[in-house]
Amino acid sequence: MAEKSQQVNPKWRERIKALNNFRPLAKLVWEAAPGVVIAELAVRTVAALLPLAMLWVTKSIIDAITYHRQALPHYFWWLVILEFGLAALGTVLSRGIDFCDTVLADKYARFISTKIMEHGSKLDLSSYEDPVFYDKMERARVQGTDRIVMIQATGRLFQQFITTVSLAAAIIEYSPLLFLGLIVCVIPAFLGETHFAFLGYSLNFEQTPAKREMEYLRILGGSKESAKELKLFGLGPFFVRRYAQISDALHDQNVSLAKSKLLAGALLTLLGTAGYYGTYAYVIYETILGALSIGTLVMLAGAISGASTNIQQLFSTFSQIADQALFMADLLDFFAMRPKVVSKPNALCVPRPISGGFEFRDVSFCYPGSSRLVLDNINFRIRPSERIALVGENGQGKTTIVKLLTRLYEVTSGQILLNGVDIREYDLEDLWREIGVIFQDFVRYEMTAGRNIGFGRIEHCDDEVRIRAAAQKSFAEQVIRKLPRGLRQTLGVRFEGGVELSGGEWQRIALARAYLRDAQLLILDEPTAALDARSEHDLFQRFADLTAQKMSVLISHRFSTVRMADRILVLEDGRIAEQGPHDDLIRFGGRYAEMFELQAANYK
Ligand SMILES: Nc1ncnc2c1ncn2[C@@H]1O[C@H](COP(=O)(O)OP(=O)(O)OP(=O)(O)O)[C@@H](O)[C@H]1O
Ligand SMILES: [Mg+2]
Repeated sequence: MAEKSQQVNPKWRERIKALNNFRPLAKLVWEAAPGVVIAELAVRTVAALLPLAMLWVTKSIIDAITYHRQALPHYFWWLVILEFGLAALGTVLSRGIDFCDTVLADKYARFISTKIMEHGSKLDLSSYEDPVFYDKMERARVQGTDRIVMIQATGRLFQQFITTVSLAAAIIEYSPLLFLGLIVCVIPAFLGETHFAFLGYSLNFEQTPAKREMEYLRILGGSKESAKELKLFGLGPFFVRRYAQISDALHDQNVSLAKSKLLAGALLTLLGTAGYYGTYAYVIYETILGALSIGTLVMLAGAISGASTNIQQLFSTFSQIADQALFMADLLDFFAMRPKVVSKPNALCVPRPISGGFEFRDVSFCYPGSSRLVLDNINFRIRPSERIALVGENGQGKTTIVKLLTRLYEVTSGQILLNGVDIREYDLEDLWREIGVIFQDFVRYEMTAGRNIGFGRIEHCDDEVRIRAAAQKSFAEQVIRKLPRGLRQTLGVRFEGGVELSGGEWQRIALARAYLRDAQLLILDEPTAALDARSEHDLFQRFADLTAQKMSVLISHRFSTVRMADRILVLEDGRIAEQGPHDDLIRFGGRYAEMFELQAANYK
């Protein structure tokens, strides 16, 4: 990786182009906190004019003393008081700026974090399975709040600019040439700064995958899910070593960049200093000749020094912003990403009841970025109030069928029909409302038991009666009864006072969530994998009653479960190899019968 960073060939055009990102950022900041932005700009404007005002007062004081030492003008002491007042104002304003910065940072962080979450939740499932997207999202997430530095830098830039202009006006008033000389000396430093800013960005960009791996290792090393295996397999030291290795490599890259920046930066800054002292010497010379008063000398020296520092800071702030602007690209790219699976305009509502059922017609599918057909020309129907079971060995595409049915992915070819109409014609959220799914890898929300069930229909999240009824259907009530705080009990061990459940108990809770949904199609992907034999039996007795008037799709490797379905589809190599009720398939003596016998034999 070290060699790679040296291959980076920064292009000026890209640097300038990145500055275009500034406008959207300004817009985001403005949206986040318009009031604070106005306040900050106002305070900074006043603060920016203070240096010139103070220099002017100092000049007046010195000139008054030099020329009228015997008879000081009547306003003389007012000048002294004014200078004090300006100095006091300066400290108050700088506190005010700090305050505005803090408030703005907070508001912006909140605004951008919620915006990222909101946007992330709308994107396609396939985006989340794409590593490029993940890198982008990671950078966007970090940048979301990191860009506060850029906002504060912008405030400083604004202030430095006004200060520089005001001081420059004072210098130009005496000699435009003087000012020009000053600028010429500062430009090299500016070029250097932006150059390194770009190198830093490129490096950071390249390091993202490595940083993601580090983050993953860090999570593995410190999470409840992995702790058991880490200990028993003795993996801890391996992960620590791997983390340290990557971390060292990144460190070396960063240090090598910092070193070259140190050297070049120092040389270039020296040029700026030389420029300042050159002009300073010129002003002293003019004063000795008598062309300038001592007050003017002091003021000009102050103005030159102030302008010189400010110009340098201005350029370095500017290049900081340019650097940050490059990072913004990822955040803006992320915000620009649009989900592909969306409802059409004027989409249809899903009818209630769905009298025509669902139909897969010549459906083929391969996952994005892969050319392997996971489903190959599948045809089947789910009739109203029919219970379908999907069986097949691991990786045959059972879960994939569910993802297509729920339109988490779009079919590659063919159609899925609902009441004879392509599901793409229906409103997506309406479709989801009518389907209750519990996936194999269902989510264990480390929140209260009530929430875990209530999330099945967020409108009823706090409706205890419905929640209890759903819990009863899935036998989760027995789990809840054991919890010290009942439905209000926090589950999982992430938060204080949480109670951990067993795999089967979690599964019952998840099932209750599906029941609460009260959807027309219920899909359970391995709903009983973690249940004991008796629970499973009871559960399916009940399942049969509960789904009597509904469509359901059941995926299971347990044939005791599967046999209760009205029709069983056997998936093999992306095709439906056999289908029919249990008894027919057994009589047929094909693949299903073979699998069934294999499992039954184990129990004899
Ligand atoms: N997000 C994905 N990207 C690419 N390929 C995938 C993805 N998810 C699954 N696959 C592939 O699609 C095939 C079918 O996967 P699917 O999850 O549908 O199998 P399944 O029948 O549900 O298996 P299991 O019984 O193990 O749950 C697998 O070979 C898998 O490698
Ligand atoms: Mg599966």
